[in-house]
Amino acid sequence: MTVPVSILWNEDQLTILNQQKLPHVIEYIHLDNIEAAFDAIVSLKVRGAPAIGITAAYGLAIGASQSSADNLEDFQQELHDQYIYLAGSRPTAVNLFWALERLMEKAETVKTVEEAKAILLSEAIAIHKEDEEHCRKIGEYALAVLGDYRNVMTICNAGSIATAKYGTALAPFHLGAEIGKEFHVYACETRPIFQGSRLTVWELQQSGVEVTLITDGMAAHTIQAKGVQAIITGADRIAANGDSANKIGTLGLAILAKAFKIPFFIAAPSSTFDLNFAEGTQIPIEERDEKEITHIGESRIAPQGTLVYNPAFDVTPNEYITGIITEKGIIYPDYQKNIHNTLGDQIGEEVSR
Ligand code: MRU
Repeated sequence: MTVPVSILWNEDQLTILNQQKLPHVIEYIHLDNIEAAFDAIVSLKVRGAPAIGITAAYGLAIGASQSSADNLEDFQQELHDQYIYLAGSRPTAVNLFWALERLMEKAETVKTVEEAKAILLSEAIAIHKEDEEHCRKIGEYALAVLGDYRNVMTICNAGSIATAKYGTALAPFHLGAEIGKEFHVYACETRPIFQGSRLTVWELQQSGVEVTLITDGMAAHTIQAKGVQAIITGADRIAANGDSANKIGTLGLAILAKAFKIPFFIAAPSSTFDLNFAEGTQIPIEERDEKEITHIGESRIAPQGTLVYNPAFDVTPNEYITGIITEKGIIYPDYQKNIHNTLGDQIGEEVSR
């Protein structure tokens, strides 16, 4: 049993697991230039907030390494254009902007083009490595806070393949499997593009975690009928007051958790916090192609002319969140105060969007 990994940096080459083809085809593809990295993010070959950030960081480093600029000024101009290009790939997950900003700041500290190319790559590698360490810590905290609970629900895929390794919401299940702690995970299929059924079920099966698939509309009944004891999800962006954007359907689960009096946890690394945003209403919500709803695969389900609203994310207000599990510990209400205390050193970091 192994925890799957979706991003590899080997021998100066970026390789990703093509998540669009899972679970039936296991295909690893090389991303050899910035356009390939951009395309992989836009077309969801790589998805999940931390994985998007890591891929964008490598994409920028690869783009920069292929620059033919022979002076620092031209190089910086080109780098800026590449940064804007990658930042336009997806709007909601802040990890994308956070990772790109980290590289841009490093590039400002150098004196030569060669030095810039080297520092950009080493920063991308550092982001990649740190994310694995952070996810492992999140898993340890989550394992502790879930305690004796066995039946836990999740949505989307906040797993190993959405990060460097282990995942956020799925990390306790992977770590639990390693130490013999048994969970039974109820995975919501996650309409419209099935990150739950295609990715979470597959990923948990790889590490031997017991998982039952349900459709999103079955969540309330399943909590009641199967004795779900807690809900845990990831996040794409968390505002300074704790309001958390995550895959569409998460807000519904949080409301259900409150109604059924079970805890609702968000698991996310500190790179997912956006302290420039006071509250969740400011978080940009990606809207996607209507075909994701009107069709299943290539088959049209809804009649021609159907009006469609297809937001990819929703925002859970902080009052529904029992705790936010980070690599720095678990943050509980009062979020405004405790996020500030836990992530104080991040305050004032400018994130462009
Ligand atoms: O559209 P996606 O698949 O990129 O959305 C992903 C999610 O909403 C995840 O739950 C979130 O990014 C956390 S991944 C650790």
